Amino acid sequence: MSKQNIQSLRGMKDIVNDESTLFTYFVDNASKIAQKYGFSYIETPLLEETALFKRSVGESSDIVNKEMYQFIDKGENDVCLRPEGTAGVVRHFVEKKLDKAGGEYRWYYYGPMFRYERPQKGRLREFHQFGCEVFGVASVYEDANIILMIKDILEFFGIKFKLLLNSLGCKECMPPYKENLIKHLSSFREQLCEDCDRRIETNPIRVLDCKNVNCQLLLNNSPRITNSLCSSCDTDFEKLKEILNFNNVEYTVDSNLVRGLDYYSKTAFEFVSDEIGSQSAIAGGGRYDRLVEFLGGKETPGIGFAIGIERLLELVKMNETNEEVLYIGAMSDSALNTIVKLANKKRKNIKTVLEYTSRGFSKHFKIAEKKSATIVALVGEDELKNNTIYVKNIKTQEENNISLEDF
Ligand code: HAM
Repeated sequence: MSKQNIQSLRGMKDIVNDESTLFTYFVDNASKIAQKYGFSYIETPLLEETALFKRSVGESSDIVNKEMYQFIDKGENDVCLRPEGTAGVVRHFVEKKLDKAGGEYRWYYYGPMFRYERPQKGRLREFHQFGCEVFGVASVYEDANIILMIKDILEFFGIKFKLLLNSLGCKECMPPYKENLIKHLSSFREQLCEDCDRRIETNPIRVLDCKNVNCQLLLNNSPRITNSLCSSCDTDFEKLKEILNFNNVEYTVDSNLVRGLDYYSKTAFEFVSDEIGSQSAIAGGGRYDRLVEFLGGKETPGIGFAIGIERLLELVKMNETNEEVLYIGAMSDSALNTIVKLANKKRKNIKTVLEYTSRGFSKHFKIAEKKSATIVALVGEDELKNNTIYVKNIKTQEENNISLEDF
């Protein structure tokens, strides 16, 4: 048997220490924001039938074509680890016949997703998303609401972003646009990269967001979907822009933004950052008014988004979080019992770290700093005698001796 140490798989990593603290801090606070917007938590399995993703994300997408962790299980079922969260939520919606029941549904989720991509900075094979999905609301005000919610989440964590916006039209206006695009692309097909050459047959609009510089130059004069929208899509897109303007949300219309999943119609968007390298999308989403139907349900409007948690956390610095951390220490052995009791009381309201060894005043501050404490509270002989505790707020530098009862 090989004695070589086993390591985690390429593109997969453990989340631990500062990173896991930040991870749970993000999930807790993003969840609270989603709940305020009326979303409740949904958890779907990590493993689903492969057909689910083929029919939703789309057979022509890179995700389904090249990146799925797909295998035959012991019962001969063709299954795969979910590459994204939307398909599972829609599967639940249809399975529970909520399309027939009608009404509005709002769910949020977080958890691991799996894509067999070439790992690089910001691109993992196992990564985590925080996502939301809405069913049963056709109004474009919901599109705006979703964008405002993502903005709230990103702003809560102090993240600077750019919002890219597009409309991908609907079943009326997208097919003629595609025809037109194919005609245009065919005139210089031999100059396009190999992938784009293939995409002209399988999914021509994906040519528009090819990262190849040569292709991008060639695409300069391509027809734009935003100039080809039917009147209903055009009205909605104009309305969305108007609502965003009214709410002071800055955006750039990017008619080459087509997204890597095939289920979108009408609104599509991405939140990008120029501080995390080439994998710049922190969040992406859009409307998917036909997806329920693709999965065998009754046509139902849907819209959602997902944030890539690892990419977002790259942008959140630990010391920028506003979590309070109380450090409690004893300056004499006789105070140890008291500080355990105090910590137990304070933990009901604030994260509290306790130092079990009694130490001198300045040594405590050194340890408290390492533990990212925002408040330091110490008890020694004098404090015990006077029934007080020394408390210092690190941010304001304010310090006081207060009575133990008031602490
Ligand atoms: P997506 O754009 O494929 O959309 O992924 C959303 C986010 O997940 C990306 O913006 C990025 O931050 C992160 N992400 C994607 N791939 C990786 C990777 N390999 N490594 C690290 N992070 C990654 C979706 O998945 C849709 N389901 C979003 C949605 C929900 N649309 C409607 N509802």
